[in-house]
Order: sequence, then C-alpha cells, then structure tokens
Amino acid sequence: MKNIDTILHVKGESKYIDDFQEEGLLHAAVFCSPIAHGKIDYLNFAQAKNVEGVFAILCASDIPGENQMGEIVKDEPLFADQQVSYVGQPIALVVAKDSKTAQLAMQKIDIQFQELPAVFTPREAHQQNLLIMPPRTIQSGNINNAWEKCDIVVSGQVETGAQEHLYLETQRAIGYPQEGKNLKVISATQSPMTVQKAIANVLNLPMNQIEVDVPRLGGGFGGKINQSKAWAVMVALAALKLKKPVKLILQRGEDMCMTGKRHPYSTDFKIGLTKEGKILAYEVIYYQNAGAIADSSPVVSAVTLFGLAGSYLIPNVKATTIICKTNLIPNTACRGFGKPEAMFVMEAAIFKAAQEMSVSPSFIQKQNLLQDNDILHYGAKIQTSQALKCWKEAVQRFCLPDIVREITHFNSENFLQKKGYALTPICYGISFDKAFLNQSYALLHIFMDGSVNVTTGAVEMGQGVNMKIRQIVSRIFSINLDKINAKTPNTSRIANTSPTAASFSTDLNGHAVQKACVAILKRLTKMIAEEFDVDEFHVEIKNERVYIEGKETSKDWTSIIHQAYMKRICLAEQAHYKVPNIHWDNDTYKGNPFSYYVFGTAITEVTIDCLRGTYVIDSVKVVQDAGESLNKIIDLGQVEGAIVQGIGWITTEEIIYNEIGELQTDNFTTYKVPTILTAPKDIQVHFLENVNNPAGIFQSKGVGEAPLVYGLGAYFALLNAIMAFRPHTVEQFSAPMTPEKLSAFLSSLQNYGICESDLPL
Ligand code: MTE
Ligand code: MOS
Repeated sequence: MKNIDTILHVKGESKYIDDFQEEGLLHAAVFCSPIAHGKIDYLNFAQAKNVEGVFAILCASDIPGENQMGEIVKDEPLFADQQVSYVGQPIALVVAKDSKTAQLAMQKIDIQFQELPAVFTPREAHQQNLLIMPPRTIQSGNINNAWEKCDIVVSGQVETGAQEHLYLETQRAIGYPQEGKNLKVISATQSPMTVQKAIANVLNLPMNQIEVDVPRLGGGFGGKINQSKAWAVMVALAALKLKKPVKLILQRGEDMCMTGKRHPYSTDFKIGLTKEGKILAYEVIYYQNAGAIADSSPVVSAVTLFGLAGSYLIPNVKATTIICKTNLIPNTACRGFGKPEAMFVMEAAIFKAAQEMSVSPSFIQKQNLLQDNDILHYGAKIQTSQALKCWKEAVQRFCLPDIVREITHFNSENFLQKKGYALTPICYGISFDKAFLNQSYALLHIFMDGSVNVTTGAVEMGQGVNMKIRQIVSRIFSINLDKINAKTPNTSRIANTSPTAASFSTDLNGHAVQKACVAILKRLTKMIAEEFDVDEFHVEIKNERVYIEGKETSKDWTSIIHQAYMKRICLAEQAHYKVPNIHWDNDTYKGNPFSYYVFGTAITEVTIDCLRGTYVIDSVKVVQDAGESLNKIIDLGQVEGAIVQGIGWITTEEIIYNEIGELQTDNFTTYKVPTILTAPKDIQVHFLENVNNPAGIFQSKGVGEAPLVYGLGAYFALLNAIMAFRPHTVEQFSAPMTPEKLSAFLSSLQNYGICESDLPL
C-alpha cells in the first residue's frame, strides 16, 4: 500500500503548475503596498509601462466586476483601491514577456501615500475597538457558581505565535483565454470552487464560463484554502484583457510577505480544580490577531471555541473570542485550524495548576481525560473515547516510568544539561466548521477496457488523498490499483466542491466515491446474475474475477465491462454525499459539529543546554488513533510530518515584524523551520489497534492535522527541563520557545538549584 505518487516524485515526473510551459505564455508580478496603513495619494504607471516587454499593468480600475473576494466578510479587495491596510497588500499586476521584465517594471511604478496610524498587536486593536466582528462567547454549566467549589484557582496569560505554511510550491496560477469570455485557470488551490467563485465575481462572469483545474500541489497546509484566490483572479483578469495565457508565480520572499500565516493568539485564562485535580471551571478570552482582513479568521476562532478543552472534560466553561483587526498580512487557516492554539492554552493552564498543587501535569491530565458518553461544552456527546486507551497504551508501550527514571538520573548527574518530558493527549473533532461544506461529489467513469477514472473535489497536496481514493475504488470493485486513475479536481467535472481541508477529504469524498462505485457494481452484478440465472447475492467479483456461488468462472473484470458496454449498461455514475448527523446552532454554539473524534497521546523528551539556551528534541513517541487506517504508510507520514510542523511552530519558527509592520523573517535564514538536523531523531508512532469508526469511510479516521498538536509537548517538556535546572513558578507562557527566548528565560531566573523531578503516575 505504498503511495503510487511516490514513484513519480522520485523520478521528478510529477507535474506541478510550473511544469506547464507553453509558447507565448506571459508572466506577471504583483506590485504591493510598502506601508502598513495609508491612503494612496498618487499612483502612476507611465514609466513602468514604457519598459520594453511590458504588456499591461492592471489595477482596481481595470476590474469589470466587483473588486471583492471576501467570503465571510466583504472586506477583501483584489487590488487595494485608495487605501492600503498592510505591507504586502496587492495594488497592481504587471504583465510582461518574462518575469524579470515584470519585476523590473514594477520598480518603476510611482506611488505616494498619506500614512495613517497602524496597529499590530491584538490587544492594542481590541483597546481601539478595531474588531473584525463583535466578540463571541460560549458557555456551559455555571461558571459563576463553579469557582466557589474549586480548591485551586490559577490564572495567567498565554501567547502563541504565527506560523508560515511553507508549502514547497509557492502560490501560483495560469490563466488561459478560451472561446468568447470563457476562461480556464490552473490554480494551486485547496479550494477550486472558492477560486472559481472569486473569478466570477471580480470578472463579472457566470461561474459556468470559468473552468478551474488543480494539478497536484506542492503542499497547502491551509494556506491555499482562501489565499490562493487572488493570484488566480489576477491571471484570469489578465488573460481576459490580453487574450493571452498569463502565468503568475510568487517568489518565496513575495509569498512570505504577501500571504497570511497561522493566527497569533494572546489569551487570558483562569482554571479551577478540586484538590484531587478534577477540573471544574475554565474561563478564557482569546485575542486573535486576524490581520487586516477577515479571511477565515471568524471560522478559525469558532473552531478555537470548539477545541478549547482539548481531551478533557470540563463541566463549567466560559470562553470568548475577540477577532482583532491589525495592520498585518491577513492570517488564515493553518494545519489545525484554531485548535492547536486553543489546546496550548489548556495545557498551559494545567501546567500552572500542577505547579500550584505541586504535582506533575500528567497527574491532572490523566484524570480529566474524556470518557465514553461524556458531553462536551458545546453539547455534543463523545460516543466512544479512545483518550484513556491511547494514554495507557503510550505509558506502557514506551515505558514512561523508565523514561522518567532515566531523566531523573540524568538530571542528577548533570548540572548544565537537563532533560525534560511531557505528555500530550489529543482529542480532535473532524468535519467542516460550516455545516453546508459537509457535502461532496464523485464522478466515476469505467472505460470499455475496464480502466477507471475517478474524479472528486479532493486536491492532492502530498497528503495522499489520491492514493486513498483509488484504494476505495479498488476495494469496492476488487480490481487492481493500476486500473484506476484519480483525475484532477476540475470545476467542469465536479461543481460546488468543498475545500480539501479539515483532514476530512478522504472521508468526505471517499463516501461519494463509495456511493458511485456501489451503484455501478449493482448494475454489473444484476447483469451477471441474469446471465447465470442466479440470485444477485450469489455473484461476486474478487481480484478481477467473477465468482458464482463461490466458484470461479472464466469471466474477468475486463470481459464483464466490455459485455456491459455492448449491452448498453451505464458505466458512469455521479454521486453526492451529505455527512449525516452534523448540526449546530450558530448563535449558541450548541449542537453536534463533528462527525467523529481522533484521539492520541504523545510522550516528548528534550535535552536543554542551560548555559547556551540551546536544546534538542530527543524523541516523540505516539500512540495514534487512526480508526482502521486506510493506508498506514501514508498515515505514518502524516503523523510524523505534523509532529515536526507542530514542533517548529512551538520552538524555532518565529515570525517577526518590525515596528512599521514589515516582515523581517521572509526567508529561510531568518525563519527557522525544523530541518533533518533539528527534527527529533526518534519519532515512534504506534497505531492504536482494534478501533472502529462507523462514521468514517471503511472505519478509518482523518489524521492530517490532529498530530500537529503533539508539537505542544516540546514546549512543556522544555519547561520541565528548565524546572530541573532552577525550580520556579512559570508566570507566562510564550511560544515559540526559541533558543534565544530560552536563554533569556534561564538567565532571568534567580533561585539556583536542582529540583527532584516529581515522578508522576
Ligand atoms: N500533508 C502534506 N504533505 N501537504 C499538505 O499540504 N496539509 C495538511 C494535512 N497534511 C498537508 C498535509 C492539512 S492542513 C490538512 S487539512 C490535511 O492534510 C488535508 O488533507 P486530508 O483531508 O486528505 O487529510
Ligand atoms: Mo487544513 S488547515 O484544514 O487545510
């Protein structure tokens, strides 16, 4: 069950957008705002237009439709018009014979501004009432009464940082003029329909005249759900105006300066527990830094509200999200979609409570884990919780008591090097945050030679969805994988697709594929049953051969398909799937927003150098619930990748803007992602056995994002190691814990000494 795509990747034969190189293709570059906030006083293209090889410079006034791409809030112009609200906001598109010329011409654009005051931090924006929408609060139980019943109450502040998606393939698109006003756009997007809709709106064309096709992506990670629109709309506009194909590829630095990141959050929490460690109450206010435009911030913050309790049962909750409008690049969906941010706060609260109670965090974590039939703060019931099972399996399988003993021993022998560990349990709901997105289509064609084409709305971005979709077809028809081709999502084959996101793609699209396959299989079975004069349930197709009453016949897959064609039996099917049982009230945030939940537990070990502030993430050992995994190799890759990405977010990846809102970390020298040298040397993943998931396709679960949360373990393991060096009370939690921050932290601590590590469990 290897991922077939790997063979193409290794040979360099996989086709990405930049591999489309036709004669006559024009190249574009985006001219964007150099200032964070201001009015455009003067804009002149005359000199730039004179550069030889420039075909056009397009701006807001060239837009035939509405200069608007906003999905949730109508605050997202394609090109800034009159006013700019962040450094990197597109103002114009230069189209030239090649990208060098386009870049050169861009430098000759004459622009003048009247600068306005800018705001960069969410709390500052909140003070000035600069909000994307009014704050939203959800409640469960009775928080006011709950505090009196608590023996321990602690509160604190938590900061988490932004994160670059760092897809290997930057944002890009090619627009092709077609007959009349028809357009074809090849876009690196996770959401073909979003792109199609935006083009239609900006170009004032009906959606049926716009065909969006998506080849495989070199990664998306959430950064190409909403933020792939602009570039596709720009090339569509240029192709329409110039009647020539136009390609736009953002350079790495441009991509980093023009596209949104994971949202930074600044959060206040208060947690109350019994002296036995049962969490009774949790109150939290999230200040989300949305950047200058709403984008998907409202939905991300809604998901934060759903995910705030992590894997724990908390009877009394009050939580507020404040979506703050700042003069930064609009932040957007990023792997985890608001849940890792929420879970970090939860773990920080537990860490602080554990300090107050002089126990290990794991003592509190374990006894609050969700159990079967627990009702979450938004009213949904967890039917089957694997939380405790994963926890116990991780503790046993990876011998936690031995780990703790070795760490304690190491710490007693070493003064300037300390080790630490943390446990990170996860519970992660799967579905789309907007009910209507929980639907899908599949289109299936069987050709007369028995080969099969399957199209869904799922975008292959390295996560292996194509392989899994093929597996589903292969499993239902019982035919070889090499007979099955997964076609690119294309709005002319599949309309109204939901984005490839939320770790839901295989499940969502796979269910539609299943429906289509079953419908065709029924017709084939009926045909064979009639021929052999038996009941349909006596007919079976197994490994491409036909069996009647369990006996092999001379007929194979190819022959029955040919026969079906000759008999004029339909060999095509389109199916629509609607996820059952998902509903919630958008006002009260009560209901059942998720199809099912993914569980797991990680044990993270780290070593710090207390003099230099440097550290090594030694190991991450995980027990992962993937239901009945459809493809363990792919899922393993997903879990490992997510862990490393999560560790990056929480340790070394730091987005820095200067005091005038310019991104300082716009390349790989200043922005530090984990590399082969700094990623944990030892990552062990064990898939929890004997778990089923009736809601998932073939009992599987989506594990694309959830394991990113294990990255949080690195932070708390680092804190654990710091405590072994100098015991103290942690007052503030601020991720990422860069080596720079860690060394400043260490030197700020006053009381020297070595603490006895407290043995949990
Ligand atoms: N894996 C790779 N290689 N590339 C990606 O862009 N995106 C992640 C995850 N894993 C991503 C990835 C994100 S953010 C999501 S939501 C899921 O894949 C989406 O794919 P799925 O629904 O098929 O799990
Ligand atoms: Mo993933 S953030 O839902 O693309």
